[in-house]
Amino acid sequence: MQIFKVNGGRKLSGEIVSGGAKNAVLPILAAAVLIDGEAVIEDVPELSDTYSAVRILSHLGVKVNYCNTGKTASVNASQISSFEIPDDMMKEMRSSIFFLGPIIGRTGSCRISYPGGCDIGLRPIDMHISALEQMGVKVTHTAKHLYFSADKGLRGAKIALRFPSVGTTENIICAAVTAKGETVITNAAREPEVVDLVKFLNAAGAKIKFESGGRITIQGVPKLHSLHHTVMPDRIAAATILAGTAAAGGLVTVRNCQPLDMEAILPLFEAMGSSIYCGRDYVTINSGKRPKALPEKLTTMVYPGFPTDAQSVIMGALCKASGTSIIEETIFENRYRHVPEMQKMGADIVVSGQTAVIKGVKRLHGARVKATDLRGGAGMVIAGLTAEGETEIEDIRFIDRGYEQLEVTFASLGADIKRI
Ligand code: UD1
Repeated sequence: MQIFKVNGGRKLSGEIVSGGAKNAVLPILAAAVLIDGEAVIEDVPELSDTYSAVRILSHLGVKVNYCNTGKTASVNASQISSFEIPDDMMKEMRSSIFFLGPIIGRTGSCRISYPGGCDIGLRPIDMHISALEQMGVKVTHTAKHLYFSADKGLRGAKIALRFPSVGTTENIICAAVTAKGETVITNAAREPEVVDLVKFLNAAGAKIKFESGGRITIQGVPKLHSLHHTVMPDRIAAATILAGTAAAGGLVTVRNCQPLDMEAILPLFEAMGSSIYCGRDYVTINSGKRPKALPEKLTTMVYPGFPTDAQSVIMGALCKASGTSIIEETIFENRYRHVPEMQKMGADIVVSGQTAVIKGVKRLHGARVKATDLRGGAGMVIAGLTAEGETEIEDIRFIDRGYEQLEVTFASLGADIKRI
């Protein structure tokens, strides 16, 4: 078993270069199934979830050449030979559900079991299923498996989402790009990662347009061709480094970062007393020793609101803030599992329903804690950077799902953190 050992109390300084975004690369790798040719994808982050996606592609008969040193993946789905994702691969990561739309779009059928992944809530897939049914897909359930088939082909539909779900929007887009006729999604997700997927597909000949008010139109085309795409930078990984610096103090620049995608995140660091300087593709943060509490309640929302994925890392930074902060989680119903672990480090956090009240303490102390999920684990690393003594974080496999060697990144900025 691998763990992180963090000795808190060091200020951070230096520069890091952000890698490609996990939440962009996973749907893009899945969407490569739709391409009748080669997709060359640059800036593919080296994450355990990336390898899970590559394993699914290989199982489907898709040729993948992933040279991780160059971070380039070449994916060729011309000879796709299967429409089924084995149970163990579905369980490995929640994002296996992102293959559903692409596989049906390409082969007309798909067989999967219910997806696994981080336990941050119920995470049903009812919207994915209902949207595909509206496009002419017949869905058969057994206790363990779901079988989808579009015997007469997929057809365009008008789909109104009850909630702008990221994964549902991406699956509909992928199913619609080669469907017959026009698909219109209303109340669609507008996260930058959805935009990146659309750029990828349009570069392959798809006809997808974002219109105002969360409306996306897709005109079906007969097939998609070879293309080249560079994955957008990871705004959540960038927010994690900034949160670590806001907590520990220091002067850090994150390069290859798109500040315009982080407009709901960056002002929080200023509210916490840090100075933020932005260029076109970088953010610099300058922080004193102890952050201030947030003056207003922070509520997680769909884009362009504050992202749920950055909630726990901000909480990690607020544990030692002067004053009391309030966070409300509105996207997932079980996204405070990191709180009991932060409490082991001396954090004063009270959770009531979807609200967490964080009373900043003067000191956190090292403790043995367990990463409960990907972002919760990153929140513990941040709390550990400010704690007195040694924090040991177990189950870092969750953290490795979405960060490229987070310990190496923080160590390069001067933190005392090691993987054992
Ligand atoms: C994606 C992100 C994840 C992020 C989330 C919200 C990826 C790989 N993952 O996950 O990191 O936290 O968006 O920004 O991009 N829901 C239903 N029925 C459905 C689908 C979703 O009720 O059929 C609910 C979910 O339970 C959740 C909410 O909708 O409460 C948001 O989920 P969704 O936007 O679909 O998240 P994901 O696409 O799974």
